[in-house]
Amino acid sequence: RHVLVLSGPNLAALGSREPEIYGTLTLADIHDQVSAAAADLGLTVDCRQTDDEAELVGWLHEAARASWDVVLNPAAFTHYSYAVGDACAHLVGCGSRLVEVHLSNPAARESFRHTSVVGRSATGTVAGFGAGSYLLALRALAGPSAAANR
Ligand code: DQA
Repeated sequence: RHVLVLSGPNLAALGSREPEIYGTLTLADIHDQVSAAAADLGLTVDCRQTDDEAELVGWLHEAARASWDVVLNPAAFTHYSYAVGDACAHLVGCGSRLVEVHLSNPAARESFRHTSVVGRSATGTVAGFGAGSYLLALRALAGPSAAANR
């Protein structure tokens, strides 16, 4: 199974970006951990980052066409991008699974971070575990579908 691991705006600055909130790992470090975990789980992954809303929407449509599952950290787009939210709804409507991830726990932060326009479509959400949020999301996707688990 192939999984697209997508990170949104400002996440290329991880390592130096507000390390007290986001930790000191760079996105390259996180991608290395994701690739190692994927190999263990029998998944193939493609890790990408963009600051560009249009590029992110394009990648979500690419995943929908290819029936890939997606791990997505939409970063600030989480809170206001109806374009990313609608692309996520389309992705899940096409049968892919989508895990929304965050390094920090947005629910424990400023009130503008309490809204997610992605979460309404997500298969599930993992937040607050740093790089571990990405790894937990991969583990979830390596298992049976949520419906089969109920
Ligand atoms: C984030 C949380 C968002 O609120 C923020 O805009 C980010 C990163 C996280 O991973 O904790 O850029 O998605």
